[in-house]
Amino acid sequence: MSAHILQIANLTAGYQPGLPIIRDVSMHVSKGEMVTIIGPNGAGKSTLIKAVAGLLNVEDGRVELSGSDITRISTHKMADAALAYVPQTDNIFASLTVDENLKLGAQALPKATARERVEEAYEKFPDLRKFSRRKAGVLSGGQRQMLAVGRALLTHPEIVMLDEPSAGLSPKMVDDVFAQLVALVKSGVAILMVEQNAKAAMRISDRTYVLAEGRNRLDGASDALLEDPQVTQIYLGRAGRKQ
Ligand SMILES: Nc1ncnc2c1ncn2[C@@H]1O[C@H](COP(=O)(O)OP(=O)(O)OP(=O)(O)O)[C@@H](O)[C@H]1O
Ligand SMILES: [Mg+2]
Repeated sequence: MSAHILQIANLTAGYQPGLPIIRDVSMHVSKGEMVTIIGPNGAGKSTLIKAVAGLLNVEDGRVELSGSDITRISTHKMADAALAYVPQTDNIFASLTVDENLKLGAQALPKATARERVEEAYEKFPDLRKFSRRKAGVLSGGQRQMLAVGRALLTHPEIVMLDEPSAGLSPKMVDDVFAQLVALVKSGVAILMVEQNAKAAMRISDRTYVLAEGRNRLDGASDALLEDPQVTQIYLGRAGRKQ
């Protein structure tokens, strides 16, 4: 049995059978760890976490959550699993209020538990309480991200996968969102996040995986990779081919 919360082993997956986007990708996340995935545009980062979240066709390999196989688990069952996924876009309902978004996220839980969990979200993110009656669509980018994370936490996951939580945010908001993620990890929830904001993400995470062309290219302690010229090379290699 695996000692890791999340174990991705030799995963090959894509959008159409026979046309894999990610190939033979392996990663793991331990309890309370923050792990970043970086890589050039189109590297397959979003595809990888969609495949782990059970949304894509997995051709080969295995995904284990606390030692249990979740490789081809149904979306319905995934909702009960201890793994939450915050997509890159469309992660909240813009036309609903903050409160409605949270209640909807908690609707699978028993009523009393749902009420407690929504209250917990308000305690964790005071801004959400302040704007509870506003439509989610009018929130700032950072507040929307908080709402998406708040929703993901309602089921008390052991690990949250986030696809570019800082996308489109001002530097100040990036700092706010990252500070919330650090606090989340301190509270014992593990994080696997994809980030374009590579350096900032590596500064707050324990380990980093570099993905390129759908494959593992490099991994290690984030502070070591921050200084590693190979990381820049992988990005430049891609940029070079574009010209
Ligand atoms: N829905 C889809 N159907 C078919 N191919 C797709 C789909 N979404 C993405 N792809 C392809 O998969 C490859 C990897 O895309 P993916 O979105 O995983 O990259 P990424 O690393 O997340 O990039 P970015 O940094 O730009 O978000 C790309 O070649 C892309 O064209
Ligand atoms: Mg992406």
